[in-house]
Amino acid sequence: MQQYIDEAVSHYRDLLTRQLARAEALEQESPAVDFAGVDQVIIGACPGDGIGPIIFREALRVLKKLLADELAAGKVVIREIDGLTLEERLRCGKAIPDPVLEALRACHVILKGPTTTPGAGSGPSLESANVAMRRELDLFANMRPITVPKLGIDWAFFRENTEGEYVLGSQGIEVPGRLTMDFKVTTVAGTRRIAKAAFDYARANGKTRVAIVTKANIMKKTDGMFSAVCHQVARDYPGIQADEWYVDIMSANLINEAVRDQFQVFVLPNLYGDIITDEAAQLQGGVGTAGSANIGSRCAMFEAIHGSAPRMMEEGLGEYANPASILKAGEMLLRHIGRAAAADRLAAAMADLDREGRVVVTGNRDGATCRDYAEGLLAKLG
Ligand code: IPM
Ligand code: MG
Repeated sequence: MQQYIDEAVSHYRDLLTRQLARAEALEQESPAVDFAGVDQVIIGACPGDGIGPIIFREALRVLKKLLADELAAGKVVIREIDGLTLEERLRCGKAIPDPVLEALRACHVILKGPTTTPGAGSGPSLESANVAMRRELDLFANMRPITVPKLGIDWAFFRENTEGEYVLGSQGIEVPGRLTMDFKVTTVAGTRRIAKAAFDYARANGKTRVAIVTKANIMKKTDGMFSAVCHQVARDYPGIQADEWYVDIMSANLINEAVRDQFQVFVLPNLYGDIITDEAAQLQGGVGTAGSANIGSRCAMFEAIHGSAPRMMEEGLGEYANPASILKAGEMLLRHIGRAAAADRLAAAMADLDREGRVVVTGNRDGATCRDYAEGLLAKLG
């Protein structure tokens, strides 16, 4: 047993040393890219696994139509990046193969289809490509909008995207047959930047409340600090109220019709943000309807909030997957690179198509296909 303890202590020393170095590096804030000054915007395109390539193909057709003039003029380039597939990742034993990472780093923004992560105990262990990409490109703010106008729901979630349980999720400790331990890491600088992103968004969009969602009554160090830092940041935003919530009651309140329409902006640590945003997406029509922006200061990645849906693929339902999620991600990408008019056209076409109710994707054979949906949109975009 002593040997396990000694190994664990040395492992822990190593983790702490590296996390302290990361925390220190975060204290040097870097300014965000100003797209107004970029002559040629490079969009990296990674289709992913499972239903990824199916929904991605359709989203790309729509994006190419929206950007046709700019693509022709060379103001925007869509660079297809191969190799972010499960087969390739397993082959080289890396969450993101080196040439892919290099290609990603050379892009301003990335549109990414869902990638498969083999679960614990199902073959070789591989870190999630998502988690690795968020970390390697330092995409710290995961913004997930959820709107259901008829229920009065207009929410913006700011999920911290590089810390918490995720940062060392593959580096826990195991004493076989006895116990396992994982680690959760929260840094002051990492919390401050996600809090600022949430409050900046609130200010820029005329929102008056930000809900800080943690489990600070139990995770006293990590969530306790997350909450305290968010409240500190809130002081720089007069007129915006910071509300303290625990994640358990918040998950109940999201389905409480009496209060949920009062929520506006949420800021949460990584894991709670992961869980709560799936719940919120379900109110909007399911995870297949929700897009997500992963924003860093040098680069940003846009994706659906769901995974690669291996069950749908096994049942031969891939063609019936909903491309709305990746299209919403595309809309966010367009806004991020300052192409608001194209983003508005896409949003309006999607809203029209949904309102008409002729092309309804259900994820099953009774619904429209992914291609039908894209065709419907392309027809509207003229
Ligand atoms: C998400 C997903 C990812 C996460 C998975 C695929 C690693 O659930 O983007 O919400 O847990 O963050
Ligand atoms: Mg998730």
